Amino acid sequence: MSDSPLLTRRPEWTALEDHRAEGLTPLRELFADDPGRAERYVVRVGDLRIDYSKHLITDETLALLQELAAATDVFGLRDAMFRGEKINLTEDRAVLHTALRAARDAVVEVDGDNVVPQVHAVLDKMSDFADRVRSGEWTGHTGKRIRNVVNIGIGGSDLGPAMAYEVLRPYTARDLTFRFVSNVDGADLHEATRDLDPAETLFIVASKTFTTIETITNATSARSWLLEGLGGDDKAVAKHFVALSTNAGKVTEFGIDPDNMFEFWDWVGGRYSYDSAIGLSLMIAIGPDRFREMLDGFRIVDEHFRTAPAEANAPLLLGLLGIWYGNFLGAQSHAVLPYSHYLSKFTAYLQQLDMESNGKSVQRDGRPVDWQTGPVVWGTPGTNGQHAYYQLIHQGTKVIPADFIGFARPVGELSDELKAQHDLLMANFFAQTQALAFGKTPDEVRAEGVPEELVVHKTFKGNHPTTTILARELTPSVLGQLIALYEHKVFVQGAVWNIDSFDQWGVELGKVLAKRVEPALTEGADVPGLDPSTAALVAAYRELKEV
Ligand code: F6P
Repeated sequence: MSDSPLLTRRPEWTALEDHRAEGLTPLRELFADDPGRAERYVVRVGDLRIDYSKHLITDETLALLQELAAATDVFGLRDAMFRGEKINLTEDRAVLHTALRAARDAVVEVDGDNVVPQVHAVLDKMSDFADRVRSGEWTGHTGKRIRNVVNIGIGGSDLGPAMAYEVLRPYTARDLTFRFVSNVDGADLHEATRDLDPAETLFIVASKTFTTIETITNATSARSWLLEGLGGDDKAVAKHFVALSTNAGKVTEFGIDPDNMFEFWDWVGGRYSYDSAIGLSLMIAIGPDRFREMLDGFRIVDEHFRTAPAEANAPLLLGLLGIWYGNFLGAQSHAVLPYSHYLSKFTAYLQQLDMESNGKSVQRDGRPVDWQTGPVVWGTPGTNGQHAYYQLIHQGTKVIPADFIGFARPVGELSDELKAQHDLLMANFFAQTQALAFGKTPDEVRAEGVPEELVVHKTFKGNHPTTTILARELTPSVLGQLIALYEHKVFVQGAVWNIDSFDQWGVELGKVLAKRVEPALTEGADVPGLDPSTAALVAAYRELKEV
């Protein structure tokens, strides 16, 4: 048991509570009193310009939050992470996704071994393989060129590559088809393969553990589909299946040639893994050079997080702002609203990153927390959200801090007419954060001649906090920068909350129970110890199934 004080008893915490109790100054007033705020409350990292001026904070709020970060030794834990210490306590593992993007000559040790040469050896092997698939040199069992790549994985072995493929679509080999299968619902694999020729299809089985039931089930079905299509010759598997895993034994057991395995290590968490071998499908799509550009982007933010002073440290600031809203202003959720169609899967990716990392209620030493931890993360690309749920952000009763992410230039081979739409997209981007921050007063509404009984309905209170992240263009490097920014933001929050952001025991119970209940569904077997509610549901299911 640690004797460190409970977070909520720390003087730095109670100072923030007192500060909050003094009340919040409206954003209109904050800007009127300090017009320089728009320039001062900006932090730059790599290609990202991060504006946090539209937050319900003052210099004093920031100073108090920084004191909390210092008291909870966020930078101490950060340094321990970069040094390769086993800061994932419950799994006794180092947390070294930062080593995945370390420069070739860097030294990062785990248990006295420099892991960087292994990282680069795998990257080189991936590059070689990706080039062979892209050029057509790697052919299928019948000698046909590979035209389709299907990644089979779930959670961190799916969300990262699927998201990044979507983000970087303009940079992808358009003559290849990429699909991502994750759901154990057979419909997923069916829809992904129904129009593909097995002779031209490569399956990438991505699983850190290689025991995940969804992935192994889908991979087994994919193998049957392949063999059926190619006349049943088992030798075909070697040309059509590769594996991404830490578990060579299980990969071999499944029947994949260990030469076709791309390795990573237990110090890479699943949700932090798409820049490891797990990114192979992405590398085939965008090519090794673009993939390395993306890694460079990650590294820019890693270096920034490691070295920038606290007051100009972007992940630290974003993490602390989230703590301000979640712990002192009652926010339960955090919206991430990208104004780029290519970022359509970005928030879904962040959901695992943030919610699987910080959805915890026990401290690192086992004591319960008595403070709020990770928020519900949600959001979809603008402008679609504006016509769906923004109403609630503007005029609802909830505190919802939001990140707006936008770009100065469109990417891709757009026609001039479509390129011109970009300014309209971004006009919405700026308009929304303006409306959220400053609202519309009853007097402003009245001045438009609105009948008195409608004035309250048409008033916008404003003071909805937003961060604006702006970059010139959505490049592979910028994607790496954005992901690393959120990775480290999540780290900061976990450090302050004193939780283990790197385990995920909360997913285990459901897995065990699914295994236990399955025989009842398939064979009608008696499952001892089933609770009455679930037993009744299972009986109803079986009845419906038989009709
Ligand atoms: O069940 C949760 C989880 O363990 C995630 O953390 C992980 O990303 C996912 O399952 C997939 O695991 P694996 O890569 O081992 O198949």
